[in-house]
Amino acid sequence: MFYEPSQGHGLPFNPIKAIIAPRPIGWVSTIDAQGRPNLAPYSYFNIVSAEPVLLMFTSEGFKDSVRNARETGEFVYNLVTEPLKQAMNATSAALGPGENEFEFAKLGAAPSRFVKPPRVADTPAALECKVVSVTELADMHGKLTDRHMVIGQVVGVHIADEYVVNGRFDMVKAQTIARCGYQDYAQVTALTQLQRPGEAPLKV
Ligand SMILES: Cc1cc2nc3c(=O)[nH]c(=O)nc-3n(C[C@H](O)[C@H](O)[C@H](O)COP(=O)(O)O)c2cc1C
Repeated sequence: MFYEPSQGHGLPFNPIKAIIAPRPIGWVSTIDAQGRPNLAPYSYFNIVSAEPVLLMFTSEGFKDSVRNARETGEFVYNLVTEPLKQAMNATSAALGPGENEFEFAKLGAAPSRFVKPPRVADTPAALECKVVSVTELADMHGKLTDRHMVIGQVVGVHIADEYVVNGRFDMVKAQTIARCGYQDYAQVTALTQLQRPGEAPLKV
């Protein structure tokens, strides 16, 4: 099949988010101007540079996370894992501004070091970020879309020691999950190795 997005896909459900998949889930914690914590998942999320470490997430509509990130200049990325999946999903509920998703999802909060938003206490890894830019995306005609992309620079990295195995972050042990479109998720259960041309195998 072939379709133009502007003309519709003709399928029962939009396939696009299953084609661009699996996607990492940015579980984003922020605080609002009054210091109240907020937590929500964003799968329009990725790393866009490793040096400096830059992350992005995009909000469809001007949601609490993007508003808080813009107002306070800070957010935290929390890794989502299989044991945290139900809680992550609960934090996507449309709560009012200022309602605390940590409490709503019965999640522990741990303090961050360099930013004010707390971390999810039970996540194997969390990245403290300072906001670099907040941009409303335009389409190919230059028309603004009410899609807002936040780019942040990582200033602190938390890794729970038990997930550092042989010098590497062990994502199989962490049970990292990813978003796959529809109501589907994937879990990292196995890894295969491949060296780039000219590269030696990684050995500790
Ligand atoms: C796995 C998952 C991924 C999501 N990804 C996005 C996303 O990339 N962008 C977005 O605007 N909403 C996304 N949502 C919906 C938001 O999490 C939801 O609208 C939430 O209430 C926003 O919270 P906030 O207003 O506190 O930021 C996602 C939901 C789930 C469950």
